[in-house]
Amino acid sequence: MNKILEVRNLSKIYGPGCPQCLDSTGPESDTNLCPHCRSVVAIHGVSFDLFEGEILGVMGESGSGKSTVVKALYFDQAPSGGEAIFYDSPANAPEGKHDKQHNLFALNSAQQRWLRNHRFGMVYQNPNLGLNFNISAGGNIAERLLMSDLMDYGAIRERAKALLERTEVLLSRVDDLPKDFSGGMQQRVQIAKALATQPPLLFLDEVTTGLDLSVQARILDLILEIQQELKTAMVVVTHDLGVIRLLTGRAIVMKYGRVIETGLTDQILEDPQHAYTQRLVASAL
Ligand SMILES: Nc1ncnc2c1ncn2[C@@H]1O[C@H](COP(=O)(O)OP(=O)(O)OP(=O)(O)O)[C@@H](O)[C@H]1O
Ligand SMILES: [Mg+2]
Ligand SMILES: [Zn+2]
Repeated sequence: MNKILEVRNLSKIYGPGCPQCLDSTGPESDTNLCPHCRSVVAIHGVSFDLFEGEILGVMGESGSGKSTVVKALYFDQAPSGGEAIFYDSPANAPEGKHDKQHNLFALNSAQQRWLRNHRFGMVYQNPNLGLNFNISAGGNIAERLLMSDLMDYGAIRERAKALLERTEVLLSRVDDLPKDFSGGMQQRVQIAKALATQPPLLFLDEVTTGLDLSVQARILDLILEIQQELKTAMVVVTHDLGVIRLLTGRAIVMKYGRVIETGLTDQILEDPQHAYTQRLVASAL
């Protein structure tokens, strides 16, 4: 299996930072707030690999830094340090070679925008972040298609319809505004939009949090189906162990911005090594 993403020592500090920040935060200090300079060490030293078609879970309690990881990788927020390499798929690399590497945080903003629009997809917990609420569901998808390949209006509309159909949004609603959709339907439109360019890498941040259980279950099924069909590699951020269990093959566990445990999901859930993970798993039973 080919590696698609390599993350090394990713860190993000909110605030000025000081020489004591790292020693006075983290799981042992039981905080991510530096008592000396009041900076928040949102994440520090986060490393993981992701392979083509794999779903990796990022778990941990609220504030542990999960969203910060995917926001950095999707270029929503520049990290304070660390590196991430994206390996483009052989089909997209010149002369079929698998060495089209992108050193994500060394790219200029135009290059980052290109990757974001052509190679990555993001589904946010808050649909306000992922959708333009001033344009229709179909328009949201069309907008994303326009940023990628050049297609004529008719072709874009057909493709937008096909994507909404695939994510089980009624075609009669293609011209409706996102605000008129239920929370579950907004997430489906976000997923359709994220998939519009058939990205090899998708980030999902608490996509089902706050939805009714039955709606959650159907959206998780949809994500699994899509992963099987398109072989999309995914980073799934959630504090919901049910989501971790259902979707992911491997996972990392975060606490106060640090990765405290990593491994196969089954092993983490059945035989957690770290006391914190043991408590997380026990409390979810
Ligand atoms: N813009 C910001 N300015 C200051 N601190 C921030 C900012 N964004 C996030 N943080 C802090 O960084 C830490 C990590 O936040 P993050 O959103 O990554 O956590 P999370 O694990 O996704 O939590 P949740 O499960 O609640 O979504 C938190 O302490 C948060 O308050
Ligand atoms: Mg979050
Ligand atoms: Zn400090």
